[in-house]
Amino acid sequence: MNTNILKNTTELAKALCERYIDEDSIAVDGTCGNGNDTLWLAGKCKKVYAFDIQKAATDATSEVLMQAGFENVKVINDTHEKIAEYVAEPVNLFMFNLGYLPGGDKHITTDSAATLQALDAALEILKVDGLICVIMYWGHPQGTEERKAVLAWAAGLDKGKYHCIHTDMINQPNCPPEILLVTCKR
Ligand SMILES: C[S@@+](CC[C@H](N)C(=O)[O-])C[C@H]1O[C@@H](n2cnc3c(N)ncnc32)[C@H](O)[C@@H]1O
Repeated sequence: MNTNILKNTTELAKALCERYIDEDSIAVDGTCGNGNDTLWLAGKCKKVYAFDIQKAATDATSEVLMQAGFENVKVINDTHEKIAEYVAEPVNLFMFNLGYLPGGDKHITTDSAATLQALDAALEILKVDGLICVIMYWGHPQGTEERKAVLAWAAGLDKGKYHCIHTDMINQPNCPPEILLVTCKR
């Protein structure tokens, strides 16, 4: 395999996330959508919690997991703002793939207020040396606003406790997706 991870934001995000998980890890997919990221996490972690507000998304994710024979995922048809109500253990990796469900209703997208609340909840249960990975699609108005809010949130985090990195494909046109990574240092 010769995957050039710098050509594809999702592959780049996964390559970075992979460093933070192993077969004993707990992961949360905050936006499971069609289940692609959840399926990937299920194959690498001990346990995965997968959230989505759309029933069509959680049904699709459950189906994909069943087909692949994974039983280590709790699929939750609820908003990621309520992470604390469902996840009562320290987490190695959170993934938030923002935006709308590919192939679904483009009007149902992640929104800034809920995303920031979910990110705050994630910080509360993120392990030391754990990772929050946010993939931001900002080529639509709500995504632009959300990206601004998420980056402002990260920029305001305690520099002694968290380390934040933001990727930007600077020579690519049309608002290419960006990644925000937050790790807990202590
Ligand atoms: C870009 S898609 C995720 C793609 C997915 N990771 C995959 O692998 O197919 C974004 C998803 O976020 C979901 N979403 C929007 N607001 C949400 C919320 N408050 N809580 C949980 N999921 C939400 C949407 O329903 C949509 O399915």
